Amino acid sequence: MIEKINQTAEYIKAKITEIPQIAIILGTGLGALVDHIEDKQYIPYTDIPNFPISTVEGHSGNLIFGQLGSKRVMAMQGRFHYYEGYDMKQVTFPIRVMKALGIQTLFVSNAAGGMNPSFKIGDIMLITDHINLFPEHPLRGKNYNELGDRFPDMSEAYSHKLIKTALEIANEKGIRVVQGVYVGTQGPTFETPAEYRYFHRIGGDAVGMSTVPEVIVARHSGMNVFAVSVITDLGVEGIIEQVSHEEVQKAAQQAQPRMMEIMRELVNRFNV
Ligand code: HPA
Repeated sequence: MIEKINQTAEYIKAKITEIPQIAIILGTGLGALVDHIEDKQYIPYTDIPNFPISTVEGHSGNLIFGQLGSKRVMAMQGRFHYYEGYDMKQVTFPIRVMKALGIQTLFVSNAAGGMNPSFKIGDIMLITDHINLFPEHPLRGKNYNELGDRFPDMSEAYSHKLIKTALEIANEKGIRVVQGVYVGTQGPTFETPAEYRYFHRIGGDAVGMSTVPEVIVARHSGMNVFAVSVITDLGVEGIIEQVSHEEVQKAAQQAQPRMMEIMRELVNRFNV
């Protein structure tokens, strides 16, 4: 595994001019942040040794290196979902590569179903914590001490400092944001009403099919994490309606400009 990570990192290093400070995983319908990255360099996943290939509609599959505001960034256009059939080592491989490149901070976005009754479709939820309900753990198996601890602490999986700054930005810009706990499940089915109710009762505010494995590996690697969900549908008792991938994409599109403003400004204000 270590050899593969280093091989991939070396391949990327040979192609880029500057090591990015921040990596950003662009979730469903949030790809337009790419338009704000200047001086862009694309590396298709298909060209990268050891990289899995993205299969789901709406994800194109490139690493993008460039300048976002005042920072060098690396963006993942398309991520690897567990439901696509990848194992957890594949899902989280890009995070290992980020760390091997020297990147210390990870920003993540995703689409999620809201379960907190105060949430509205199109809301931006700053993830304050998560509940891992995936059936496989990304750290199961041999632990490589050079990558991280056997038993990693998860008491502050999502950087309090970054959340605080994001709240300040949203406040200054008059953008409504909510905060909450993200429940990570394998999908690909959306939840039954009973499942939404259950996830809410155990402490979840939103549910989605990504992010948790990536965040676990980022924390194992000692990276700081900031993550946001766009609430694309509601799994709130009494008002549950049918959900489709198209609706999720549409709601994510609508939230995109607000989300982008927060992300851009957070990148700008970020200092190592
Ligand atoms: N459930 C799970 N994943 C999702 C949802 C949902 O309601 N909405 C967007 N991604």
